[in-house]
Amino acid sequence: MKIRIRVLPTGRDLELKAGANLRTSLIEAGIALDSPCGGQGTCLKCKVQVSGISHKFTELEEEKLTAEELHNGWRLACQTTVEEAGEVCLPEMEVSRAKASFSLLGEEISVQPNACRKHFELSEPVIGDQRADWDRLAEYLEISEPAPVEAELPLLREISERLREWNFRGEAVMVGDTVTALDPPESAEGVLGLALDIGTTTLAAGLVDLETGKVVAIDAELNPQIAFGADVISRIVYTRDSREKREELQRELIKGLNRLLLRVCRLAGRERERIFEATVVGNTTMLHSLLGLDALHIALAPYVGVLNQSLSIPAGELGLQIHPRGRVHILPAIASFVGADTVAVILAARLYQTSVPKLAVDIGTNGEVVLATRDKILTASTAAGPAFEGGRIKFGMRAIKGAISSFQATPSFSYTVIGSSMPRGICGSGLMELVAELFRAGVIDRKGRMLLSSETGSSLAAGLAQRVRVQGEGREFVIFKDKETEITLTQQDVRELQLAKGAIRAGIELLVKEANIKTTDIQEVLLAGVFGNYINREKAVMLGLLPQFPLEKIHFIGNGAMDGALRALINLEERRRADEISGRVHHVELSGRPDFEETFLRCLELGA
Ligand code: FES
Repeated sequence: MKIRIRVLPTGRDLELKAGANLRTSLIEAGIALDSPCGGQGTCLKCKVQVSGISHKFTELEEEKLTAEELHNGWRLACQTTVEEAGEVCLPEMEVSRAKASFSLLGEEISVQPNACRKHFELSEPVIGDQRADWDRLAEYLEISEPAPVEAELPLLREISERLREWNFRGEAVMVGDTVTALDPPESAEGVLGLALDIGTTTLAAGLVDLETGKVVAIDAELNPQIAFGADVISRIVYTRDSREKREELQRELIKGLNRLLLRVCRLAGRERERIFEATVVGNTTMLHSLLGLDALHIALAPYVGVLNQSLSIPAGELGLQIHPRGRVHILPAIASFVGADTVAVILAARLYQTSVPKLAVDIGTNGEVVLATRDKILTASTAAGPAFEGGRIKFGMRAIKGAISSFQATPSFSYTVIGSSMPRGICGSGLMELVAELFRAGVIDRKGRMLLSSETGSSLAAGLAQRVRVQGEGREFVIFKDKETEITLTQQDVRELQLAKGAIRAGIELLVKEANIKTTDIQEVLLAGVFGNYINREKAVMLGLLPQFPLEKIHFIGNGAMDGALRALINLEERRRADEISGRVHHVELSGRPDFEETFLRCLELGA
């Protein structure tokens, strides 16, 4: 028997089999549901609110969810069996942050795309001029082209009819040297391009009118692969030894990209078949996944993937639903953990031509650090872990409704919650602010140890530390408590944050050392990435995530990776520059350095 359920907030209806698992059904329907434990019932990230659908709670749900949550229809999707019709409401995804966070940086760039249209007016064939239709068009176009033009078979199959229909006049849509489509003369259809940034957590798309260079729509959504693991390593582990699983992840990713590209087209009121080229950036594992490549050796020493070079392929080979003969250009990566997204940041922030030392940091599960000086560009990747995205934190969650996102310890303890709702957990920026504030107030010491009231050295700290309690073997700070709910920061959460902070800071220290400069020589610090744009600069310095830079030297650059992808789409020269950058960058493998461990241990200290 089929049961109809409605998925909110999208309003999409699904026909599901009675007895089906809700999490599996949602994922099979291409709906991204955060479930990093893969349905084991341990991560508690697959919480959804249902009405109807199922009335029986599992023991695990009764144990893990509060009575209030159960009363309000909250369920763990992985534990829920579809029994009757109803509605399931997914947590509101805060993709608007990702959406809003990119804009073309700096100076205007000239519009010289790889995909463009060329007007043609051919002489009609006569007995004295029997050149074939394609030869006639190719000769015409080659007058203004540096290289011979080419055509694919489907175009040759339609060319004779089109030329005669339009009296041998028209517009040739060129992608590189290939005539990809023919338009009627003076057609107003235009040529579109698509820039894609494939993040481990978020997919972002920018639709560009390639005749004007204007971005006409942007959007973002969660990467549907989240259902298979929160970070790249768990996805690599999932696909290990199984071509089927690799293909499964690739399919999910491409489905997500196709949904996203349809949405940007709808937003702009344009047809997806008018997209003739896409540029893609992302971390190296995501690019491998897009191409269906085996990423196993990215995760195993000596960390070597299948390819880091740029690649241009037909969109049809990937199943990306742009024009059927459109092309996809993937920007080059640098190393297994420093991908095309970092090349794009270097490109967008013009780090390849700086005359003074500049630092760029992309803070995420895998934090990438770039140090550019007049004569070299150094990169490193740091295994920061998922703490900044709420991972491995007892009440960690993404920056969505209900997440505590900022804290103030003085003059009185207060916090803000995204969506002004009841707090449900702490997002990455909230975690960082809380630890920074408690550190400043003296409730957490330099080693990261949470202090009891009797161990603190001031009345302010003692007052705040009354919220610290001993729980089993460890301590925890109570942030919020009412009859049904409590949210705490545990000693282990502080350790996780120290690991993330220590990894990124050690990356910065070691690149500075490698470049043979001092931290004080750095003239500008650029924070990239969605998370990077929401951290509090002052608290990042206070914690020691960043060295003691004057705050005016620290700037947010939005989604620099998307900016780079847009640049490479709009201007062919920028695309060539991206290839040069990837060849020029010197990647520093931190784990191979003898001073890594000592630096990392030192950087674990708060405020250091
Ligand atoms: S608890 Fe992890 S997927 Fe449900």
